[in-house]
Amino acid sequence: MSLKVVVTGKIPSAGLKTLSDAGITPVAWDADQPMSRSALLEAVKGAEILITLLTEKVDSELLDAAGAQLKAVCNVAVGYNNIDVAACTTRNVRVTNTPGVLTDATADIAFALVLMVTRRLGEGERVIRSKNDWQWGMHYMLGSGIQNRQIGIVGMGAIGIATARRAKAFGMSVAYFSRSKIAEETAFELDAKQLSFDELLATSDIVSIHCPSNESTHHLIGAAQFKKMKKAAFLINTARGPIVNEQELVDALVSSDIAGAGLDVFEFEPQVNAGLLNLENVVLIPHLGSATAETRAAMATLAATNAVAVANGQIPPTPVN
Ligand code: DGY
Repeated sequence: MSLKVVVTGKIPSAGLKTLSDAGITPVAWDADQPMSRSALLEAVKGAEILITLLTEKVDSELLDAAGAQLKAVCNVAVGYNNIDVAACTTRNVRVTNTPGVLTDATADIAFALVLMVTRRLGEGERVIRSKNDWQWGMHYMLGSGIQNRQIGIVGMGAIGIATARRAKAFGMSVAYFSRSKIAEETAFELDAKQLSFDELLATSDIVSIHCPSNESTHHLIGAAQFKKMKKAAFLINTARGPIVNEQELVDALVSSDIAGAGLDVFEFEPQVNAGLLNLENVVLIPHLGSATAETRAAMATLAATNAVAVANGQIPPTPVN
């Protein structure tokens, strides 16, 4: 196929194989570091299909740089807040994402953060690594148990449901806030109750964010919401940083409005608010939600499958627009 496909970030070989099996020889960036913006604007010129990572901002400038022949932007991520979907739609550019294949990996990380922050595991590890003296003690480094506590899921899509399933297996009750009701059998399986956002904040012991990042969820959680939460509650974010006002989270943690937070994503990623770094009651990990070899291979394969479908004039399996 003589179609110009540009892969703007380094992706697992499984994705490249899917392209080559379909007779596509892409122009593929092969370094772990993202391309500079100027190199990216140059690289996309004349592309008919782009396969992008969440580190690439796909906006009008980039779409113009690519040119009017561009047919699709296939993101190797379930989240697509790096893409101006409206600008793509206006230009008849198809956008696709990778739902489904990273559900369990991301839910695992969400629940790992729940356990880490409630049982003070990051703090404990820092004690050992600092080589300071420590001793088992009846009152030493006590955490909070999660059994019979409520997890409040914000955004009950596939990852929210998978996280709720893990919480239920650990003896927690499940509440959720979502625009739509979940399937009756899922609600039954999880014994999940749908609450208003304020009710969820006021009654949950863990608030875990799983909604998409867009204009309507920007700073969905900030000072006012922290005030509504229990002082003993924890916030978990594995979705996207801008959903939480990071400075107001620091303020809430410092003034003990909430008990702690577990964060995989950051408002100005990869920058992390300096105020978080010295707090013991936060666990900070570098956007690892989908970071298993199997999951990344599946994401790359799905993105490439979307690209191949577009190249063949078909509707891609997981379109966004
Ligand atoms: C996604 O797919 O949106 C994840 O955040 C990538 O790790």
